[in-house]
Amino acid sequence: MADGSDKSWILMVTAQSPTNIAVIKYWGKRDETLILPINDSISVTLDPDHLCTTTTVAVSPKFEKDQMWLNGKEISLAGGRFQSCLREIRSRGTDYEDQEKGISIKKQDWEKLNVHIASFNNFPTAAGLASSAAGFACLVYSLAKLMNVKEDQGQLSAIARQAHLTLQGSGSACRSLYGGFVKWAMGNDPNGSDSIAIQLATEAHWDELVIIIAVVSSRQKETSSTSGMRESVETSPLLHHRAKEVVPERIVQMEEAIKNRDFPSFAKLACVDSNQFHACCLDTSPPIFYMNDTSHKIISCVEKWNRAEGTPQVAYTFDAGPNAVLIAKNRQVATLLLQKLLFYFPPASETDLSRYKLLRLCFRISFAWLAFLYLEISYLIGDKSILKEAGIETMKDVEALPPPPEVKDNIPSKNAGDVSYFICTRPGRGPVVFSDEKALLHPETGLPK
Ligand code: DP6
Repeated sequence: MADGSDKSWILMVTAQSPTNIAVIKYWGKRDETLILPINDSISVTLDPDHLCTTTTVAVSPKFEKDQMWLNGKEISLAGGRFQSCLREIRSRGTDYEDQEKGISIKKQDWEKLNVHIASFNNFPTAAGLASSAAGFACLVYSLAKLMNVKEDQGQLSAIARQAHLTLQGSGSACRSLYGGFVKWAMGNDPNGSDSIAIQLATEAHWDELVIIIAVVSSRQKETSSTSGMRESVETSPLLHHRAKEVVPERIVQMEEAIKNRDFPSFAKLACVDSNQFHACCLDTSPPIFYMNDTSHKIISCVEKWNRAEGTPQVAYTFDAGPNAVLIAKNRQVATLLLQKLLFYFPPASETDLSRYKLLRLCFRISFAWLAFLYLEISYLIGDKSILKEAGIETMKDVEALPPPPEVKDNIPSKNAGDVSYFICTRPGRGPVVFSDEKALLHPETGLPK
C-alpha cells in the first residue's frame, strides 16, 4: 500500500462546495432508492463565499475505522446510504503515487483504507437553506479527488444524488457540483445512469443578479423534504399533473430565459413554480405547510412592487421552509429591495441596534475576531457592502426608511423581529479544492483541529 514500512502517512483533500436554490423545483421521486426525480429541475448555484460547506477527507493506514465530524461534532456513519456512497467512490478510485511522501496506493487498496471526514457549514444547518445540498456535493467531490476518481462532474453528480447520510440525504445536492445555472435532468434509464446534473451557463454568464435571502426561522424543518415529497407523490393529484403537464414546458422556457438573460421571463417562471410547489404541498394529505405568515407578507411585498413597476424587478422562491430567496435583476434593484425589506422587517429590538453599531466599529478598526463576532450576529451577512449602497449605515437609517411608494395609500404595519437576518449573495462557482493549510483535520493525527 505505502512503501511497506512507514504506516504513519495521512493523505488528505479539502474542498469547498456551494449550495443551490431551485428556480424550477424538484419535488417527488419515481425511485426512492436510486433518488430518481419525477421531473427535471433547474437551480442557481449560490456564491460559496457566503454559503458553503468545507469538507476535509483523509485516508491513512493508521485510521482504525471510518469516522465523521459535522460542525465539530462526531456523527454516526452507520447509515447504509452513506456506506453505499462511499462504496461507489472507492470502487471508482484509481492508482495514486506520491514518491516524496512514500505513498503508493493501488486501485484495490481504497477499499481497505478507512476515511476520516470533517465537514463545516458556514450557515445554519437544516434552516431550510439546502445546507445538505452543499454538504453532499462537497463530500462526493472531495472523496472523488482524494481517491483519484477520473469520472467527470456529470458522473459524480449521479453519486451525489444518491449520497444519503444518516437518512438526511439530498437529491438536489447533484446540482451543487457546478457553478452558475444548472439543470438536473430526470433521465429515462431505470438504473438512473442519465439522471445527472448539467451546467446550463456559468455564473459569469449572468453576473448582474443579486440574491437576498430572508432567514425567517432557523428552527429545524418540521417535515423533511424526503418524507414531504413521498407523501405528495402518494396523495397529491396536482403534483402528478405538474410533473407531467407543467414542468416540461417550464424547463424549456427557463433554459431560454437563462440563455437570453431575460429577467421578466426568468422571474415569472421562478415565482409561479415556487407557488405551484407549495400548492402541491397543500394538496398533499395531510397538507404540508412550509411557508408562514412572514413568507406570505414577503410575497405580497414583491408582487405589489413588480405590479407597480409594470415588469418584474425581483423573483421570489421558497424551498421546504419559510425562508424567502429573492433574486433581484441587478444591484440597483437589490438596494431598493433591501430598503423595502428593512422597512417591513426591521431588527427586533434596541439590543440588535446597539450591537450593530458597536460591532461595526470593531469591524472598522479591524479586530479580526470581533469582526467574526459581528458577522455572527449582524442583521445582514454575506455581501455586506449592499447596506452602504442602500444608504443604511446605522439603525437610525433603518428607522428613517420611507414606506415603499407602491403601498403609500395603504401602509402595512411593520413586522419587527419576523426575519432573523438577511443574507446577501449572488450566483457563484462550483466546488473547488483547497490547499492543506485550510484542512479541518490535523495533518499528524487525522482528528479535527
Ligand atoms: C424543495 O434534495 O432535500 O428544495 O432528495 O429527498 O433528499 P431528497 O430532497 P432534497 O429536496 C429539495 C426540495 C426543494 C426543491 C429543490 O431543491 O429542487
